[in-house]
Amino acid sequence: MSYARVHCVGLVGVTGHVVQVEADLAPGLPAVVVSGLPDTALHEARDRVRAAVVNSGQRWPNRRITINLLPADLPKFGSAFDLAIAAALLGGAGELALTALDRVVLLGELGLDGTVRPVRGVLPMVTAAVRAGLDRVVVPAENAAEAAMIPGVRVRGVDTLHRLVGFVRDGTPLLEPPTPPTSPPPDGPDLADVAGQSLGRRAVEVAAAGGHHLALLGPPGAGKTMLAERLPSILPELDDGAALEVTALHSIAGRLPADGRLLRRPPFQAPHHTATVASLVGGGSGLARPGALSLAHRGVLFLDEAAEFGKNALEALRQPLESGRVRLTRSRGGTEFPARVQLVLAANPCPCAKPAGDSHCECTPLARRRYLGRLSGPLLDRIDVQVTVQPVRAAELMATESTSESSAVVAARVTTARAAAAHRWRPLGLNLNAEVPGPVLRRPPWRLPLSDTAELRARLDRGSLSARGFDRVVRLAWTIADLDGRDRPGRDDVLEATGLRTGEES
Ligand SMILES: Nc1ncnc2c1ncn2[C@@H]1O[C@H](COP(=O)(O)OP(=O)(O)O)[C@@H](O)[C@H]1O
Ligand SMILES: [Mg+2]
Ligand SMILES: [Zn+2]
Repeated sequence: MSYARVHCVGLVGVTGHVVQVEADLAPGLPAVVVSGLPDTALHEARDRVRAAVVNSGQRWPNRRITINLLPADLPKFGSAFDLAIAAALLGGAGELALTALDRVVLLGELGLDGTVRPVRGVLPMVTAAVRAGLDRVVVPAENAAEAAMIPGVRVRGVDTLHRLVGFVRDGTPLLEPPTPPTSPPPDGPDLADVAGQSLGRRAVEVAAAGGHHLALLGPPGAGKTMLAERLPSILPELDDGAALEVTALHSIAGRLPADGRLLRRPPFQAPHHTATVASLVGGGSGLARPGALSLAHRGVLFLDEAAEFGKNALEALRQPLESGRVRLTRSRGGTEFPARVQLVLAANPCPCAKPAGDSHCECTPLARRRYLGRLSGPLLDRIDVQVTVQPVRAAELMATESTSESSAVVAARVTTARAAAAHRWRPLGLNLNAEVPGPVLRRPPWRLPLSDTAELRARLDRGSLSARGFDRVVRLAWTIADLDGRDRPGRDDVLEATGLRTGEES
């Protein structure tokens, strides 16, 4: 026989597509032709496969070899096709009878010495295989735990091409995936660590309950970073669908822990202010990598020292924050990654980073306004909760016993509040208070009684609050009512909500 075919999976963005790898061997001048829209990495695959086959002790067929990847119009990226190409080629050459690989998906990159190397994106690749009815996969040994996260799939690992050949030829068993750990994953930082800071803690809780973006302003050492890092600890766990989505994105980025656990906690990403635009939004040649925005999908994107980020970086966040997706333009068609994040930013109010009122600060009022002004257009405009936190006092910090509530206690309130909001907005197809459009809040049946919004309307008339700011305060008032177990916000909720908006206009 001079023809053979095996299955593989190609990824475009987060979506896997089953790819048939065909090999045809014909008499003629020895050569290898790869067709089916391959990218550069696939041309390199030709050389890797040849070396791996020879260095695994197999005979290299001295014929004209055509490798074809179908569907031809699917863009193909990355190095995960190597193993399938090698198997198809050896099958086509008559070296191997491929019946053992019938309806089996092969994934893996080959080293020149014939080792099988791990690849990025195994989780979404296996998901696609199962969806296409192919429930047996052979993956690099280091990716076996990851592949085994998908229910209903039979996973085997390979460490060398030699092992795969032994399996096909003699039935030598492949490697079993490791058993998944039974212990729960380690906990992140806990709110119990934060002494005092009633306003900052409340802001974090309200942001979690309503899904609101959050800005923490204040001098160095005020505990802004500490508070932000603890937001994920009070967010609800991801459900099955969300956990798969998030884990898939981390898999494509090559950032998955090797233990074979789905990511169940909302992710937390804190890119440094020197981060490049590409590392924020994603990209790269070959198989595109998700950036921090997509690694934070369904979790928290934290911009620490936000005013220090470059203009291009801040600008690049604007569209994804609006749409919940990142679109990368690439040479062959665009790629999209999901990026629905809760944004948290922290900033010093002053470019010299000395505490406000510090006698060493010589920044002019104009310099201070300009500093935060860099954030206002693209970002601050979308942020419902904006508070200024001050460093905790010594007495609170040194208290012998922690009186601070733990994340578990706060998370329980957040869960209840979210359930109330989801129930209320379900008829509108919405889930979180942060998603409710202003007009909905201003009209019956959700409009608040005039007596409860008197101060707010007065601010609006005075011009010290914009219409958008008005809506934001009302939105926060709903979240506060949900947290405190009231059906509708009252006057006190509106007042507290106003206090959670120390932004430029409230
Ligand atoms: N409220 C607090 N309770 C306990 N420790 C605190 C508190 N505020 C600050 N700290 C301590 O001070 C350090 C600096 O806080 P950090 O969150 O980095 O401040 P910021 O980001 O505002 O500059 C923290 O790592 C922590 O050890
Ligand atoms: Mg900090
Ligand atoms: Zn200053």
